[in-house]
Order: sequence, then structure tokens, then C-alpha cells
Amino acid sequence: MIAQRWKCSDCGYVAVGLFPPERCPKCQCNRTAFKTEHEYKFPPEEIEAVIAACWKVSYGLYMVSSIKNGKMNGQICNTLFQITSDPPRMAIGISHQNLTHEYIDASEVFAASILGRDQQRIVRRFGYRSGREFDKFKGIPVGTRRTGCPILEDAIGYVECALLGDLTVDAGTHSIFVGEIVGGGVFKNEEPMTYEYYHQMKDSG
Ligand SMILES: Cc1cc2nc3c(=O)[nH]c(=O)nc-3n(C[C@H](O)[C@H](O)[C@H](O)COP(=O)(O)O)c2cc1C
Repeated sequence: MIAQRWKCSDCGYVAVGLFPPERCPKCQCNRTAFKTEHEYKFPPEEIEAVIAACWKVSYGLYMVSSIKNGKMNGQICNTLFQITSDPPRMAIGISHQNLTHEYIDASEVFAASILGRDQQRIVRRFGYRSGREFDKFKGIPVGTRRTGCPILEDAIGYVECALLGDLTVDAGTHSIFVGEIVGGGVFKNEEPMTYEYYHQMKDSG
């Protein structure tokens, strides 16, 4: 167990322990005034090292889509992974501000088209502007399977999921949605796009 730092919000006194003290030894206020303080926050001089380490975390790149009232929308997402294999479940991190978030909330289904390395154009189309501004799917060949969410015909494969709403986590700016995998398949045996590969190609023009 890790001891935490507890800061008295009345007088600033800091106590260390698993739980806050019954009463503040300095101002005698009640235990409820104590709030946790993050003990392991890194100092400002470490910020570049922390960012560099975060860049070493590997991700794939996907077009995550959903539906609402007969309409479809999708966005680019790197924060997708299979969180459990038995039962088979996917987790995705989606910003509260995105139209795709609104659609997943409403329909409780989502699909992920797994992008190939040549699908930079799809990233540019789905990853930088909201579907509130234009129809991202206009002219893009898509099909649907079990959930009705659009799946890119040119993707190298897909999975589709039914949302497990009880497992949604509010991570601040983003929700972590967890979905039961209800379908999936591979269209072509090619290398999937990674987040790193996309940025390498983008930076090399
Ligand atoms: C390479 C790349 C990765 C992205 N990864 C995510 C992600 O994991 N989660 C997220 O919410 N947005 C992510 N985005 C941003 C969304 O794709 C973007 O905000 C999109 O315009 C939202 O569209 P919407 O409002 O139509 O849903 C990413 C964008 C790019 C270019």
C-alpha cells in the first residue's frame, strides 16, 4: 500500500498516511477537510523526459465510427486496444467534445476500421475536423455489418462493439468506452498503420 499525502484545505497542514487524520493537528478541523495530494508529481525540469517517454508508447491508428438517428460519423483514434480477450472487449479513449462521442453515447455501438499504411488521406479527413462541419463519409466507400456502424471498405480489417455502459470511465477530457466485440474480420493481409508511422510520413512531407 502506498501512503498518500493529505492536505488540510483549511490551514494547509500536510499529513502522510493511508488515511487522513481524524482531526487536523494544526487547526483541529474535521477529517473531511483533508484532500489527497499527488505524491509522485514530476518536477518541471523533468517534463521533456516525460514527454519523450510518452512518445515511446506504441499505438495503432483507427477510424472509429458510430451512428445516431440514421446518421453516421467517424474520427481517427489511436487510443484503442483489446482490454480483455475472454470476454473479448475493446477500450477506446474519445474526447467529450467529439461528435463521435455523442453518437456512441446515443446508439451504444461503435466500430473501428483498422487502417493500412497507405491510408494517410483517411487520417487527414477524419482526424482534424469535426463531422459537425461536413459529411466525412461523402464519397468514401463504406459498408455495414452487425451494428450498422460504417466500416471503410479499403481498411485492412475491422472490429465492431456493443457498448458496456456501466464500464465507461470519465477520464477528464475523454471518456474511456469499453465495448463487447460483436463482430470483426480481416479484408487484406497488410501491415497496419501505427501512430509512429503516420507521424514519420507526415513529418517527411
Ligand atoms: C493521429 C490522430 C490520433 C487521434 N487520436 C484520437 C483519440 O485517440 N481520441 C480522440 O478523442 N481523438 C483523437 N484524435 C482527434 C479526433 O480524430 C478529431 O478531434 C476529430 O476531428 C473528431 O471528430 P468528430 O467531432 O467528427 O467526432 C486523433 C487525431 C489524429 C490526427
